[in-house]
Amino acid sequence: MRMRVSKLVTIERHIAEEEHVKRGATGEFSRMMRDMLLAIRLISRDVRRAGLNDVLGLTDGTNVHGEQVKKLDQIAHDTIFRAMDHGGHLCIMASEESEELIPIPPEYERGKYVLLFDPLDGSSNIDVNVTIGTIFSIYHRVTPDYVGDGTLEDVLQPGARQVAAGYVCYGSSTQLVYTTGNGVDVFTYDPTIGEFLLSDEKIQIPNRGKYYSVNEGNSSKWNDNLKKYIEYLKTPSTDKRRPYSLRYVGTSIADLHRTIMYGGIFMYPADRSSPNGKLRILYECNPLAMIIEQAGGRASDGKNRILDLRPEAIHQRSPLFIGSRDDVLEAEAFLRGEFPEGAE
Ligand code: AHG
Ligand code: MN
Ligand code: MN
Repeated sequence: MRMRVSKLVTIERHIAEEEHVKRGATGEFSRMMRDMLLAIRLISRDVRRAGLNDVLGLTDGTNVHGEQVKKLDQIAHDTIFRAMDHGGHLCIMASEESEELIPIPPEYERGKYVLLFDPLDGSSNIDVNVTIGTIFSIYHRVTPDYVGDGTLEDVLQPGARQVAAGYVCYGSSTQLVYTTGNGVDVFTYDPTIGEFLLSDEKIQIPNRGKYYSVNEGNSSKWNDNLKKYIEYLKTPSTDKRRPYSLRYVGTSIADLHRTIMYGGIFMYPADRSSPNGKLRILYECNPLAMIIEQAGGRASDGKNRILDLRPEAIHQRSPLFIGSRDDVLEAEAFLRGEFPEGAE
């Protein structure tokens, strides 16, 4: 559900005003986000010119997940690091593209925030001009030392403790979808003035949708309950609620963005060869879960709320079922072996 905005507000003003109403805010969060927005504008610029500027194709490396690193993965990672390492706002970072934690270089000050990011989401779509994204997640540091480096403890917090989360969708336009726990707002980038302007305010996902989104090519490896659920969504019902339509981009940001706007469910389930699914808790599941909950939806690993998971390793994965409340509840019921009448 969209709430179109007629007033003209830049994201920087929005962030500063939101911070102002929170007690004890020092302006540091706004300054950190200003640095992050610079990185996002630069990545958007590179994405928009891909094909002309030698950013397509592969690097020589593979990442910690065993995936081949595309040039744009590396460029986006480096851009965020270079924008964020020297502001004095962060004590540690972690990125999907970096095997180890990323410390702040010794010459710069440490701050009270922790930044986790997926610099480029949807890598398999980069070279074919299909929507890709960037995801970020921000926490307060929990280790008390405000001078020293952040630690693993600062990075492995449950998603419920996120201070802010956002994703950028490089689609038909560049949009930033963002929350600090006070609803979800959408900002659309106007490249002619270099600003993100508020375009949809406090968006809410419908309680149920008509789209399901999953890589059905993996279905031979699914368990029976999941197979039954997907079969159920495809079976016509007399009330015309089903069949659902299938949409699958293969960029979690794009699949989630459509799910928020139209309703439905996006999933990356566990299967026989990937017992924890594919998506990473820190860089994908948690930020997406915070956004969906703030928009009135639900995110689970099939049993448990994503935001309550306690990650034990920085690149840990989790199955993900995310979207409209009633759709996710229904998926969870199927996974428990509870089927509605006529679905057995
Ligand atoms: P990334 O490009 O950051 O590695 O993430 C890719 C993820 C996610 O965006 C998408 O939903 C999923 O991989 C698609 O995976 P399949 O190709 O296995 O469907
Ligand atoms: Mn990703
Ligand atoms: Mn990525």
